[in-house]
Amino acid sequence: MPRAWPKILYGGDYNPEQWPRELWEEDMRLFKLAGIDIATVNVFSWALNQPDETTYSFDWLDDVMDLLHANGMYACLATGTAAHPAWMARQYPDVRTVTADGRKMKYGRRHNSCPNSPTYRKYSQAMAAKLAERYQDHPALLLWHVNNEYGWRCYCDNCESAFREWLKARYGTLEELNRAWYTSFWSHTFYDWDEIVLPNLLSEHLNRSNFDQTAFQGISLDYDRFNSGSILDCYKLERDAIKAVIADAVVTTNFQSNGTYKPLDYFKLAKELDVIALDSYPSNDMPMSQIAMRHDLMRGLKQGQPYLLMEQSPSQLNWKPVNPLKRPGVMRLWSYQAVARGAESVMFFQLRRSRGAFEKFHGAVIDHAGHEHTRVFRECAELGKELKLLGDTLLGAETESRVAILFDWDNWWALEHSSGPSQQLKYLPQIQKYYDAFYHRNIPVDMIGIQEDLGKYDIVIAPVLYLVKEGVAEKLENYVASGGTFVTTFFSGIVDESDLVTLGGYPGELRKLLGVWVEEIDALFPGQFNSMQLQANAAGLEGSYACGMLCELLHPETAEIAATYGSDFYQGMPALTRNVFGSGEAWYIAADPEDDFLAAFFGQLSERKNILPVIETPPGVEAAVRVKNGERYTFLLNHNETSSTIHLGPEQRLDVLTGRQVTGEMILPAHAVYILKQIP
Ligand code: GLA
Ligand code: ZN
Repeated sequence: MPRAWPKILYGGDYNPEQWPRELWEEDMRLFKLAGIDIATVNVFSWALNQPDETTYSFDWLDDVMDLLHANGMYACLATGTAAHPAWMARQYPDVRTVTADGRKMKYGRRHNSCPNSPTYRKYSQAMAAKLAERYQDHPALLLWHVNNEYGWRCYCDNCESAFREWLKARYGTLEELNRAWYTSFWSHTFYDWDEIVLPNLLSEHLNRSNFDQTAFQGISLDYDRFNSGSILDCYKLERDAIKAVIADAVVTTNFQSNGTYKPLDYFKLAKELDVIALDSYPSNDMPMSQIAMRHDLMRGLKQGQPYLLMEQSPSQLNWKPVNPLKRPGVMRLWSYQAVARGAESVMFFQLRRSRGAFEKFHGAVIDHAGHEHTRVFRECAELGKELKLLGDTLLGAETESRVAILFDWDNWWALEHSSGPSQQLKYLPQIQKYYDAFYHRNIPVDMIGIQEDLGKYDIVIAPVLYLVKEGVAEKLENYVASGGTFVTTFFSGIVDESDLVTLGGYPGELRKLLGVWVEEIDALFPGQFNSMQLQANAAGLEGSYACGMLCELLHPETAEIAATYGSDFYQGMPALTRNVFGSGEAWYIAADPEDDFLAAFFGQLSERKNILPVIETPPGVEAAVRVKNGERYTFLLNHNETSSTIHLGPEQRLDVLTGRQVTGEMILPAHAVYILKQIP
């Protein structure tokens, strides 16, 4: 990865265009006081930079760039194409999107451009080129920030025509499209490409409040792919415009929804980015394991490479119904949580709090008070000082994981478009459950894409792998045959890439590997449960655990039975199976189990493989290890409101942040962070 930074970058979004010029010098003074070394600028300045179709004016930005450089700061230069100017919306209606219910939007908000608008593509690309030409040699320039939090859906006529072209390229013929979409159902046979319309509330989508629901899964799934691809194309146009001028530019775009934004396949985007950038905005009550999983996913998007924490709030948010302050120490704690999992920057939205409009109550390093004598500023400045001391210590460090969880956007889309057996089934909570079983034991997990090499993992888990892409079953078979342990669950192997069921018994293409066939899938009401009765031979497990949501009725073929259902008419049928396959094993969890089962199950599986926690900690204390040049850096993060005690063992360790040596029993105050290094 191209790494141009000498330390963990520290800074964030800076919008001087909202403030009088006189204040900018004061901003610089405050930034230096806070240890800030990078500012993301020009994120929402398109209208300023291009007041009409032919005029470009960057004087203010020249001034900002110069000022940053004069004060020893880097610029993360945004192309500013995430909100188009009002003149463009008036002159060129094609830039304005059409909503899922067919309304043509007027001018307003941001993230408001149609990704297939010729006007938008032309002018966004032109803007990227202009900026690259102008700032190519600017000494402050470190990073390029294309657009901002890409992601929207559009249903305009341009998108519809582009969708038809996309389908022609994908299917070649209408016969093939009719086959893939299963259009013999409900009289949908298409005889002309122009008969095809976008799937939305005017066509295939049934329900305004649950947009996943569609009458035609294949069509909606292809729209998801198409839309994600259209946005990716917009990114590439800007990226290429920049790279045409600056071949070695480091280009990124920031990912939204804490990295789990459903409409965009971030694995596909990741390939085109030089470095991943995450916007992390968990609410104060979000479980820490959920934030951790998302950080691990960001690291997984580019095969374990470090990423940038591009945005987080120094304190409160403004866009949730209720926006509490971040408690003292929490901003620092969450910043180190990101670093512990692979982030090489700690950046905020934003550096100075806006005076007007939507975000005036969003947390910022400089509050409306306007000076440095605030709690938030003090906490930011302390962290700035610490990151300076840390220098390059952790740059390029790696996470060593022997466990991987497969994450796949196509599967996410298809699974949640499914009509039946249960709308209760959602992808992220399933992923999270399996992740949690390891998180709570401090066992590192890589979140990986389906295309990744599996060979380096001892355990690979694919929760609800409903959609099996071409070649995946074979890949999993090879992995297990050569010694790997694979775990998958109910509602896996059901369909192919077109959402057509693989006939002959579920789990379809995974049937041979798992050694079972599933005959029926029962759906349980919320709050209704069956149980899994562990058999004596179940590899160290015993007792009974609750399960529910979906319970599959399956027949073992080559698999052995590890648990059976405790009740209902399928009492005694297998609920958990293990299939020895080559020199490995493949487990099938046939129903949605309670968390305690997963903790016990993966506990014994890890123990058998000698996969150990990085360190034992009490509940609420997160531990993670980063490795660099053979040195192991153990992060201890106390998420509790109270102090917690941990036992380090007899050896001496260096507390990297304070330079003190620690050993034996250690008391972690509430929200404390330690980075410990073994002393040889
Ligand atoms: C997003 C955007 C920022 C800002 C923040 C506020 O992450 O990228 O421009 O609006 O949200 O939380
Ligand atoms: Zn459109």
